[in-house]
Amino acid sequence: MQWYDGIIGQIPEWDFAFRRNPLWKYVPGLNPGQFLITRMALEEMGKRKKIGAKELEAGRKDLMSQLMAAHDRAPDAFREGDVFAVAHGAIFAGSDSTASTMQSFCHHVLRDSSIYSRIKQEIDTATAEGKLSEMPQWNEVQNLPFFQACLKEAMRLRPAVGLNITRLVPAEGAEIDGKRFPGGIRVALNGWVLHRDVEVFGQDSKVYRPDRWIEGDAKNMERYMYHFGGGSHLCIGKNLALLEMNKLLPLLLRDFEFELLKPNEDLKYHSTFFVVQSGLEVRISKRNAKAQ
Ligand code: HEM
Repeated sequence: MQWYDGIIGQIPEWDFAFRRNPLWKYVPGLNPGQFLITRMALEEMGKRKKIGAKELEAGRKDLMSQLMAAHDRAPDAFREGDVFAVAHGAIFAGSDSTASTMQSFCHHVLRDSSIYSRIKQEIDTATAEGKLSEMPQWNEVQNLPFFQACLKEAMRLRPAVGLNITRLVPAEGAEIDGKRFPGGIRVALNGWVLHRDVEVFGQDSKVYRPDRWIEGDAKNMERYMYHFGGGSHLCIGKNLALLEMNKLLPLLLRDFEFELLKPNEDLKYHSTFFVVQSGLEVRISKRNAKAQ
């Protein structure tokens, strides 16, 4: 599906010839309505629609119930088919992009022993001083400057979205960076290109070097970060994803020892909509950072 979305997302008119083609429903096995996951979701929606609003409210609190309730509140703003589409989008978007970002982080940190020992030292010191709870808290982790620099550098070098992020110029046209663009034109920006701009990130912009966020003009570099997109369509899950990564990664580094099985090999990756990576193979053992 990612391959399909990546390509057709750039030429959306073709969706009518492929996925939305009404003829598919006559081809056994190719009707999206017959896919197991779709059938399960529709069946569950059907069951829940039969029970009253009160029971629904009191029942299972999951994403589907929230979306169905939103649909009931504003049926005009929210078509019924959107319930399934949004649920799919929110879960899928949120998991793959966060996983891809954490893979980039882990690979870059683990492959450089000086970075790996420095980050562990920072986490262990905070733990020993009682500044990092058993379940790391957001505010505590903001006070780990090297960890923050490593995470930002992973997001800079390998944005989880590999395709251009496109916007349509409004009918009245727009002026962008001193140039006039007529209405209807699509303008796009690609995070992988923008994040390698030497004028912003330095001559070594292709290198993973967390210290640039400590020594350099972090405030200015921050303005050009496009990992989560920007403007009115800025990733809606940005804060959630940051919260997850800020809690999980320090916890893993504190409680476990990781060793890359293939330290000299790069991660393999290809870009669909998200950058899908593979090859992060590690040996994991328990460590006891609290005693240090
Ligand atoms: C590290 C993790 C994530 C990355 C790198 C990421 C990246 C992005 C990017 C680049 C966009 C396009 C923004 C634009 O057009 O300017 C986007 C949009 C979106 N993301 Fe994320 N995302 C992440 C996590 C999440 C999570 C956790 C959720 C949901 C729980 C989520 C839901 C969405 C949605 C619904 C949109 C569409 C927003 C709109 O068009 O208004 N994302 N994300």
